Amino acid sequence: MLREVLDWLRPGPGKVIADCTLGTGGHAVAILREIGPSGLLIGIDRDSEVIEVARGFLSQAGNPFRLFHSNYAGLGQILQETEIGSSTAGARGLDGLLLDLGVSSYQLGRPERGFSFQCEGPLDMRMDRTSGPTAGELLRRLKEEELARLFWDYGEERWSRRIARAIKTYLRKEPLETTTQLASLIERAVPRGKRRIHPATRVFQALRIAVNRELGGLEAFLSTVYQYLRPGARMVAISFHSLEDRIVKHSFLEGFKGGIYRLLTKKPIRPSQEEVRENPRSRSAKLRAVERI
Ligand SMILES: C[S@@+](CC[C@H](N)C(=O)[O-])C[C@H]1O[C@@H](n2cnc3c(N)ncnc32)[C@H](O)[C@@H]1O
Repeated sequence: MLREVLDWLRPGPGKVIADCTLGTGGHAVAILREIGPSGLLIGIDRDSEVIEVARGFLSQAGNPFRLFHSNYAGLGQILQETEIGSSTAGARGLDGLLLDLGVSSYQLGRPERGFSFQCEGPLDMRMDRTSGPTAGELLRRLKEEELARLFWDYGEERWSRRIARAIKTYLRKEPLETTTQLASLIERAVPRGKRRIHPATRVFQALRIAVNRELGGLEAFLSTVYQYLRPGARMVAISFHSLEDRIVKHSFLEGFKGGIYRLLTKKPIRPSQEEVRENPRSRSAKLRAVERI
């Protein structure tokens, strides 16, 4: 949703914009071109690997940028380091902030990262490979009921209990180490029938959300981020999951009721049919935008 991001974020010359989910820099490169030599792009990602890919693309644009390997929860610290600071503390603050949530195509396409059930890899799924338990560790550590709850809550998986039971039964006999091992176990555990998506899709999504503590982190971030935005600054968030979108929607609404934000998008903006055709993964994307009052 590159065009839509630029339309709502409005990254003009001289602006200071934070891309808090840099990925491989698709949006960031376009933003960097718009802000020109007098602007500053701050790029943040918790995955050190994608940052290096993005750095390569951004360097070619020639305009100022600084990249940080961090959870976006560390934005306050990063803004202090870059002397942009918090606008509520009298410092400059940001003119724009982008959140393009979820996993990147780059991460999905690396079998060794374990995000995809379509290729053989370890059950890792950590966006930041320097910390936290892997998906495999979660499967071993959580009890059957806890796993079922996780698949239900984060994946809306109707066969959550069956799948959790099958995983725990399997683990009592042998180790569960790879993505394809887990995918075929799930395939065997659920009834055959008409399916639009692979039976492992929802479980993989749920595990990824849990491993990276995506929802709690997003909620906490959105409740404090307003302090870094200067008046007139815009924030754009793209979500891919209904729970994620609900958090964004509620947080923006709370900010609106509290006189912090003007709501720019009453309803979420969806990708064009053309984009969905070219990139089917974009089909569930929802974009929402606010402006700091
Ligand atoms: C959908 S991709 C972003 C793609 C990017 N907009 C582009 O154009 O290439 C999401 C990125 O956000 C990162 N990410 C997810 N949660 C994060 C968090 N809490 N803090 C920092 N980065 C995060 C992921 O590692 C991933 O690279």
